[in-house]
Amino acid sequence: MSSKPRDGFSSKFGVIAAAAGSAVGLGNIWKFPYEAGQNGGGAFLLLYFVFVILIGLPVMMSEFVIGRKTNANAVGAFKSLAPKTPWFFTGVMGVAAAFMILSFYGVVSGWTLEYIYLAVINAFKGQNPEQLSKGFNEFISNPIRPVFWQVGFMTLTALVVIGGIKNGIEKITKLLMPILFLLIVVIGIRSVSLGANISESGEVIGHSYDGLKFLFKPDFSKIDIDVVLDALGQAFFSLSLGMGTIITYGSYIKKDNNLKKTAIEVAFLDTLIAVLAGVAIFPAVFYFNVPPTEGPGLVFSVLPSIFQKMAGGYIWTLAFFVLFAVAALTSSISLLEVAVAYFTEELKINRLKATIITAVSITALGVACSLSNSVLKDVSFFGRNIFDTMDHVSSNFLLPIGGMLIAIFTGWVMKQSEFYNELSNNGTIKIKLFKSIYFIIRFLAPVAIAIVFLYSVGLLG
Ligand code: TRP
Repeated sequence: MSSKPRDGFSSKFGVIAAAAGSAVGLGNIWKFPYEAGQNGGGAFLLLYFVFVILIGLPVMMSEFVIGRKTNANAVGAFKSLAPKTPWFFTGVMGVAAAFMILSFYGVVSGWTLEYIYLAVINAFKGQNPEQLSKGFNEFISNPIRPVFWQVGFMTLTALVVIGGIKNGIEKITKLLMPILFLLIVVIGIRSVSLGANISESGEVIGHSYDGLKFLFKPDFSKIDIDVVLDALGQAFFSLSLGMGTIITYGSYIKKDNNLKKTAIEVAFLDTLIAVLAGVAIFPAVFYFNVPPTEGPGLVFSVLPSIFQKMAGGYIWTLAFFVLFAVAALTSSISLLEVAVAYFTEELKINRLKATIITAVSITALGVACSLSNSVLKDVSFFGRNIFDTMDHVSSNFLLPIGGMLIAIFTGWVMKQSEFYNELSNNGTIKIKLFKSIYFIIRFLAPVAIAIVFLYSVGLLG
């Protein structure tokens, strides 16, 4: 290995911005609302909270600890902590998950670029959600256009990753994340204040407050094992857990950083942004009387309708889609980085070559995902098209299994003292609730994830 110091994050805010930049992305703004919409709203949100706090947070701390302690990529980290054991396979599985996730992630990110273009030419003007939804479906079922944008987006991602950690990732996120946050708050305020939608004949079409009720009032009858599995998968997906992203980012964190605090801050910000995205979208969904179960097109057909109701709508629309694309970019960078760090450090391929090879193969897989909305629509696995299969298998299976293995590794393979020393910076900071955190990592998280799986494949219950 070279003697050059490993690239890393320069400041504390840089760490949080970069990790939050990885966490906050399509998962919060695109996936969370549509998953919540399909899974009954409030009940899904509640389960999601439980999984983020009880499982996501301790797993995130484990990943930070493993990464920083070993200073290595997802595979190398396991090799260094448990040499000559099959544990490194957890990292390999993570690299595979990165490929699968980024393949469809690049497609949806490409959609955000098309929407920037549509915003620039003011194409949403005067369109109602129904027309917007039709436009969205026409766009994704075009075989060429979405692929064009996907390739453009993946090229951007690769360029930033080639630039390296400090120059690329940290700078972009530090500047733009706070702006995105403010923008979502403003959209949320507008959405909630839409009030009652009354037609010319005096009929009530919908009311924005019903959207808040939908999101925050759990209807427990909506909970079944699929909802539970989706909420678990969404928690992992949104927090960027279970495949080594946080291990890789942890390896770039300085030794004096408080990892527990960083994990809490990142998880809090990520969850807050998902909830705010829900607050921005669901009141408008109910105001316009759009079915909340609409699926992947939900935000694309609802958000532009909110902007129509805002003074300066043109600018809001444009600003939003630009920041949406940036949020997607800071996440896709972190996905690609997992694969690139593995190829450069384990297989000793130089960074430029590694980035090109991975980006090109992921994009190729992504083209198949994109075409599954058009020419490959009839190719399906267990009733899901290619796109949905990539999403379902990676989010609902690979990530939680990865998270379970990471928890087992931290709880049973690493020594308690090793974990404690890294988390507490060799005892220099006090770790409140350490015993509970350790108990969750050792017992609760692995068992809870295992139970959800056994139920979902029908072996329990
Ligand atoms: N968390 C990101 C989002 O919500 C996506 C993401 C980036 C991710 N890196 C990850 C998901 C690693 C799972 C694992 O959009």
